[in-house]
Amino acid sequence: MSQFPELANLKSQALAELSAAADLATIEAWKSSYLGGKGKVKALMGQIKNVPGDQRAAFGAAVNGLNQEVEAAFAERVAALGDKARPAPAPAVDVTEPGYIESNSIGRRHIINRVRDELTQVFARMGFAVAEGPELEDDAHNFVKLNIPPGHPARDAIDNFYIDDPLKVASPRMLRSQTSTVQVRVMEAAVAAGGGKLKNPIKIVAPGRVYRPDTVDATHSFMFHQIEGLYIDRLTPGGGVSVAELKTTLFQFAKSYFGPEAEIRLRPTFFPFTEPSAELDLKIRLRPEQPVRWMELGGCGMVHPNVLASCGVDAEQWGGFAFGFGIERLAMGKYGIPDIRMLYQNDLRFLQQV
Ligand code: DAH
Repeated sequence: MSQFPELANLKSQALAELSAAADLATIEAWKSSYLGGKGKVKALMGQIKNVPGDQRAAFGAAVNGLNQEVEAAFAERVAALGDKARPAPAPAVDVTEPGYIESNSIGRRHIINRVRDELTQVFARMGFAVAEGPELEDDAHNFVKLNIPPGHPARDAIDNFYIDDPLKVASPRMLRSQTSTVQVRVMEAAVAAGGGKLKNPIKIVAPGRVYRPDTVDATHSFMFHQIEGLYIDRLTPGGGVSVAELKTTLFQFAKSYFGPEAEIRLRPTFFPFTEPSAELDLKIRLRPEQPVRWMELGGCGMVHPNVLASCGVDAEQWGGFAFGFGIERLAMGKYGIPDIRMLYQNDLRFLQQV
């Protein structure tokens, strides 16, 4: 090679640079600059054919020798550098990185839960505590103690979700068809706490799910929510809880929840558990663009003495009123929801609007 000083220069330059290269990136750059397809050693190989005939073989051999030496030096350097010459491992996955879902959409409470809480808050301001009862009930609490005797059409197996066969079991279990069951549970518990006697007034509302095997359509669902109210107090001579008090309570509720424009109306009707009984209607402008109209909300009345007695409450000493209405109907009215099924499908496009 000594006869070709430019090869000797190139070699010493290449080896000097190689021994100075201390990391992978520099070595890679060095490799492409000398040994790559467009590198300096390759360029020399391309020149072999231009060398005058008598020197061509010697030049070619020298270039090949240079190529081999430089390749060997490269391999040696890589081995000497060991780990440092290996590609760095790919960065680990950062599990704290936000995902693709918009990370700032935190969701909100379901409309039914919001309305339920608004309702219990309005009644709380009038002194009603919140009570709960089981959704899996029995026929005693859903019917018998509410003065709905055997043979009553409301108990038909076609209209209820029985768990036990009502023809075979004495008090068959069922999914409750009304929150009126909680009236019974609360009175029984109060009587038990009083050692067999009611000792204090009861003033509760009981929101919750109820189940009926209705065919699903825009206004019916096999599961929906009701809120029940019960106020029982001592009968005092010429006093006690009156129909006027029932009506005032419902009137105040309507004003607080729907605004000063709201009105109520009681229409006489029949319920087994109240006497007298009334249908509760609400007069309301549901949306600014709609006319004021009456809508049926639920039922109410003065608690039937048979119901008090079946819960162990002395009907000579105590009396009061009860009411119950559907939460979906109220929510749909207040928020202009046209189809009850929208409340249960959990379609985000719906949930984000209400
Ligand atoms: N439980 C009745 C129903 O589901 C509603 C109802 C009517 C409840 C009158 C009451 C009441 O407490 O007094 O249709």
